[in-house]
Amino acid sequence: MMLDQYAVIGNPISHSQSPRIHAIFAQQTSQSMEYSAILAPLDQFKITVMQFIQQSGRGMNVTVPFKLEAYQIATRLTERASLAQAVNTLKFENNEILGDNTDGIGLIHDITRNLTVDLAAKRILLIGAGGASRGVIMPLLQQKPFRLVIANRTFEKAKTLQQQFKYYGNITACDFDNLSNQAFDIVINATSASLQNTFPDIPACIFAEDSLAYDMMYHAEPTAFLRFAQQCGVSRLADGIGMLVEQAAESFYVWRNVRPETQSVIAILKSQTYMSRSTHPNQASNSK
Ligand code: ATR
Repeated sequence: MMLDQYAVIGNPISHSQSPRIHAIFAQQTSQSMEYSAILAPLDQFKITVMQFIQQSGRGMNVTVPFKLEAYQIATRLTERASLAQAVNTLKFENNEILGDNTDGIGLIHDITRNLTVDLAAKRILLIGAGGASRGVIMPLLQQKPFRLVIANRTFEKAKTLQQQFKYYGNITACDFDNLSNQAFDIVINATSASLQNTFPDIPACIFAEDSLAYDMMYHAEPTAFLRFAQQCGVSRLADGIGMLVEQAAESFYVWRNVRPETQSVIAILKSQTYMSRSTHPNQASNSK
């Protein structure tokens, strides 16, 4: 009998950690399934998904650059995918394509469970107003922070997000110049700046000594954003490896209704990533 098939789909995809993560989850929870990586040509996302469904495909993770297309081909969306306007998890069942988004809850689980930082009543700064930022706003607001500020190099994009989510909590938008004289308990970098080994032009004063600085990207070396936070005196630093594993765990739960244990998997990935320092000096990643 053919095992249930799962895959991560993207372009590029060869660097993906997802097959490894899900193989560990499957072994750990005794699930009979196979998980592979599929490279879809840039103009053939939908047809590649349809072929996968015909070959006993039960679910997919979706990564760059297909999260918007995945949102569009879904025949049903979860509320969190609908609000994120992006899909990172597809589930194929009863002739239906369910689109979900587990990125936001992955971030929340990493911060609150793994880093044991409570978000309730905290001052949170979210830097960036692209897809990565949009996907985490609602889950952050559901934690009932004191306030959530979205800061972006291009102010209008932050304002658009603020307008969309203003009914769900205390959320404001600003540009980097207007961050002076504001300090935050949690500062999250959701920009793609780390991919260019740089960081947003934010003032040092946004950090308090006991702030958590969190970069949704990860890299063998600390990202430029985390190095900047450290120079500003911040000691609590985290990169996106925990979020990567936690979003995978949530997808696994969506598909199999079983929750894998994540801490040991995060430890494996961290040791592997940080060990590769000499071979990948300049390649930050946020991708599955
Ligand atoms: P993603 O889907 O990964 O969020 P995106 O939609 O292209 O990618 O958005 C990238 C985000 O990173 C944007 O907020 C972008 O700022 P702009 O809206 O001003 O372009 C931000 N970004 C990228 N490089 C940056 C840099 N060097 N400094 C500050 N912000 C940067």
